[in-house]
Amino acid sequence: MLSLASLNALDRPAFTAALGHLFEHSPWIEEETWPRRPFLDATHLHAELCATMRAAGRARQLELIRAHPDLAGRLARQNALTAESTREQASAGLDRLTEAELAEFQRLNTAYLARLGFPFIICARLNAKSAILAAMQARLSNPPDLEFATALGEIEKIARLRLNDLLEKPT
Ligand code: GUN
Repeated sequence: MLSLASLNALDRPAFTAALGHLFEHSPWIEEETWPRRPFLDATHLHAELCATMRAAGRARQLELIRAHPDLAGRLARQNALTAESTREQASAGLDRLTEAELAEFQRLNTAYLARLGFPFIICARLNAKSAILAAMQARLSNPPDLEFATALGEIEKIARLRLNDLLEKPT
């Protein structure tokens, strides 16, 4: 567990190493946010990290979205997810799917990627399996710009929950 005070005292590489998993495979967000310390609390730190993500160009945002594994996808079945992703997918019950559910996830993942050009992103820890499947089906026909914006918003929620896991609760 980390305190805000100890995070604020870290140099850039140590800060990036400590928080570098908040955004999937994208430690550049922490690295570029470091100069804006000191951070007053978790909400402030999260807001600054999200500001870095929002200020990045569309190409880097697309890379960030594409760094996410499919839900119940190939990497999950091969146990090749990051520790954070493994926990998130398990919390939604995606590690305990029936054959039929797995086939439905595969069908929707494939259809979504084919139509939108990036993987479906939802904060798995805030949604149960049935809500995720319903959202996949519903969002599949949304305009790409809307889905791009939704994906970034979900990534912010994922990062906030990951940050909460790392930080000491304020006393
Ligand atoms: N892909 C779609 N949703 C999620 C999520 O909540 N966590 C991770 N790691 N990948 C995702």
